[in-house]
Amino acid sequence: MANVHSRPSRVLSGMRPTGRLHLGHYHGVLKNWARLQGEYECFFFIADWHALTTHYESPWVVGDNVWDMVIDWLACGINPKLARLFIQSRVPEHAELHLLLSMMTPLGWLERVPSFRDQQEQLDDRDLSTYGFLGYPLLQSADVLIYKATEVPVGEDQVAHLELTREIARRFNHLYGVEPGFEEKAQEAARKMGKKNARLYHELRRRYQQEGDREALEEAHALLDGQPNITVADRERLFGYLDGTTRELLPEPDVLLTPNPKMPGLDGRKMSKSYDNTIGLREPADEVARKLRTMPTDPARVRRNDPGTPEKCPVWDFHQVYSDERTQAWVQEGCTTAGIGCLECKRSVIDAVEAELAPIRERAQAYVDDPEQVRSIIVDGCEQAREEARETLSEVRNAMGLEYR
Ligand code: TRP
Ligand code: SF4
Repeated sequence: MANVHSRPSRVLSGMRPTGRLHLGHYHGVLKNWARLQGEYECFFFIADWHALTTHYESPWVVGDNVWDMVIDWLACGINPKLARLFIQSRVPEHAELHLLLSMMTPLGWLERVPSFRDQQEQLDDRDLSTYGFLGYPLLQSADVLIYKATEVPVGEDQVAHLELTREIARRFNHLYGVEPGFEEKAQEAARKMGKKNARLYHELRRRYQQEGDREALEEAHALLDGQPNITVADRERLFGYLDGTTRELLPEPDVLLTPNPKMPGLDGRKMSKSYDNTIGLREPADEVARKLRTMPTDPARVRRNDPGTPEKCPVWDFHQVYSDERTQAWVQEGCTTAGIGCLECKRSVIDAVEAELAPIRERAQAYVDDPEQVRSIIVDGCEQAREEARETLSEVRNAMGLEYR
């Protein structure tokens, strides 16, 4: 069981800067982030090192997309006052944690991650039999663990990476969470809560350990959460002592599965750069309109008088994202009776997409015109992220016995 209220919730997620963002990113990821930033402490970062694992032969692609990605995030409502926005490579502590974790990561764990082989086969135009690519999910683990994130919003395709992250955290805690004199220190920490609380704590611990009583565990967590006077280190010892005899140095994060909104592409498949069926967030209005006007419809509607079936038409998928019930009923009626033409039907989608994109485009332009502001948002975010990362690194070095003088 991860995330036992020993820490406040903290969300972390990242995105690889390998191309321009489109409506799929907006509906699939960014709207979700924008919602989360109001509910959690959030860290969002540009995973430029991760991008290099697949684009090491064309690193300029990464550089070209970093700032535009930041601008698109901001234009879509990611708010630097609510979330920390930073660039992975500007927090080099990620690399150090990755290195340290690599020492204790069994090769088989990485080879077994499904994306390792899948991607090698899918992206067969590139040589991905590299050390860096094998380590991709471990670098991702470092990204997450360095901030002690409790929740990681990702899509289905990333769940295996988070599972690895949890295994790595568990292994790390098992190997390095043992502190000399831990038992005594935990006892001492319990005493600091006062006689009554200490007795209750030991009783709850016994019930959990001997009887597997999960309620007792939860009660013990609540007891610890309600102790204002104990230090962070003591609190961690007491949390760890409930489970066994190790400290939870790196907490196991939970997946916050991003609901799968099927943002359709122009051809009825999922919107994706690799299908060349996207609408870019900053594409000019006339280009967006042209793309929508020329997108395929139900092939049964050859002539204007031929009735159609919306379910067989990619335009209908757009209506499901963009149109209210009334408009949808209008489409159903008009399409099946040949009462409306396809261009008319598309007009309404074009207007709705434009209504969504116009303010995004406008906000993005304001940031394009003021690159210093964008840079300063990232400088601030990096600084704040680094502070957190440094703290964890110092604990990790310490736990691994590297803090010699
Ligand atoms: N691998 C993620 C993706 O391709 C990006 C990523 C890198 C990430 N590090 C992360 C996501 C840490 C969440 C947490 O989408
Ligand atoms: Fe598609 Fe609309 Fe034409 Fe029907 S009327 S085929 S839903 S574009």
